[in-house]
Amino acid sequence: MEITKICCIGAGYVGGPTMAVIAQKCPHIQVTVVDLNEQRIKDWNDPNTDNIPIYEPGLSEIVAEARGRNLFFSTEVEKAIDEAQVIFISVNTPTKTYGKGKGMAADLKYIELCARQIAKVAKQNKIVVEKSTLPVRTAEAIKSILDNTGNGVQFQILSNPEFLAEGTAVKDLLNPDRILIGGDSTPEGELAIEALVNVYANWVTKDKILTTNVWSSELSKLTANAFLAQRISSINAMSELCEKTGANVNEVAKAIGMDSRIGPKFLKASVGFGGSCFQKDILNLVYIAKSYGLNEVADYWEQVIIMNDHQKRRFSNKIVQTLYNTVADKKIAFLGWAFKKDTNDTRESAAIYVADDLINEQAEISVYDPKVSRNKMLCDLGYLETRSEVENAKALTIFNNAYEACKESHAIAILTEWDEFTTYDWQKIYESMHKPAFVFDGRNILNAKELESIGFIYNGIGS
Ligand code: NAD
Ligand code: UDX
Repeated sequence: MEITKICCIGAGYVGGPTMAVIAQKCPHIQVTVVDLNEQRIKDWNDPNTDNIPIYEPGLSEIVAEARGRNLFFSTEVEKAIDEAQVIFISVNTPTKTYGKGKGMAADLKYIELCARQIAKVAKQNKIVVEKSTLPVRTAEAIKSILDNTGNGVQFQILSNPEFLAEGTAVKDLLNPDRILIGGDSTPEGELAIEALVNVYANWVTKDKILTTNVWSSELSKLTANAFLAQRISSINAMSELCEKTGANVNEVAKAIGMDSRIGPKFLKASVGFGGSCFQKDILNLVYIAKSYGLNEVADYWEQVIIMNDHQKRRFSNKIVQTLYNTVADKKIAFLGWAFKKDTNDTRESAAIYVADDLINEQAEISVYDPKVSRNKMLCDLGYLETRSEVENAKALTIFNNAYEACKESHAIAILTEWDEFTTYDWQKIYESMHKPAFVFDGRNILNAKELESIGFIYNGIGS
């Protein structure tokens, strides 16, 4: 079957960029991205593509090229489902905040809603692709909903997890390490797999397109995120030991990374990993393991999260201890709020938790982030429900310039590794601060020697 019409439900961080790249690379395929969120769709359709709702380097150019040609953003979910041969489900699967599995399991209510809507609308056979990250064996539930409430239409369910990282989404999508497609080994299942392989083959070489059974594909996504996060927690655990022993974590990371069996990537000690995926997916993995009675497996992976929480708390404690055990009424400047550079996403960003801790100690926080809005920062703090909106707004002052944010502060904390922070006139910043002036580099991006020669008291992670 040749695919000419694709629909994607969910115009978020995955649906938007992924479909933009498919549309760019497959001009013969009409790609419609739909979402219930009217404002989000309105923003995707903004005539000025610099205003699209998701910031990713290179994305606005791709949207400018394909939008209106074969890439469309719409709120007409049912129409798009009806017309498409292939439907990607790319909706959010957050950690459950209620009921059984609260705080651990993935909330599949949005996925189920999509399945029911597809079942209701579809009049012809369709391929349904799980793009969202899902617990292993979710395809079974989707299939059951589709087969039992549908109109006698045949559905093939494929698992095609997305491995892009934010901040490098376009690069990752254009040149992926691999594309993973899981499907049934029935003749119909194999035809569906082949149809999706052929879409990706428009720009990805076939040796990078891996096909597996559905359950392997679903579980591989959770496993990949667990392994990546585990490396960060491992190096972060070592960073604490480095601080006690005089070793330097950057030197340790370099030394171990040169072992080709270990490799150099994902060994940067930090204030803790953030983002919408790692914590959620590991908690989900832990929940699945527990639900099969695999308590040792569950405990093993849960430790990755425990270590990450410890690292965030350790960072805020260090600031308080170093500033003579009190930050009350002291101004602490945060450089960065996003969970990593080159994104405006703040979900689970370490900055939120560090700010919360310091505000509890009655510090005044001033923040500068090149891409995150004031509203978003205040919403992030609001979700924690530690204090009222008014109290948060009083404790957090947001600047659109780093020099202003740092002026008259007692300490600077680097929470995101934005490149521009390394280009600042640090002498000028030092002169504008209270003395002694401290820097807590949660990303180890600044030049410690240079800052110390200016007069700063520098604290990096793991040194
Ligand atoms: P997101 O919250 O940015 O976007 C999801 C969108 O789905 C929202 O705009 C929401 O309004 C929409 N939506 C929800 N239910 C809907 C429905 N019934 N009909 C229409 N629209 C609906 O989420 P995201 O970051 O794009 O993540 C989506 C999935 O991809 C998750 O399962 C996530 O784990 C996975 N994932 C995310 C990343 C990442 O870097 N963000 C990477 C790989 C995989
Ligand atoms: C991650 C996975 O990398 C990606 O494959 C998956 O599809 C979604 O989840 P993402 O969360 O967008 O991507 O970004 P990633 O680059 O993995 O960074 C996650 C967090 O780990 C960030 O807070 C980052 O700063 C932190 N990190 C990363 C470290 O602290 N040290 C490192 O060495 C690498």
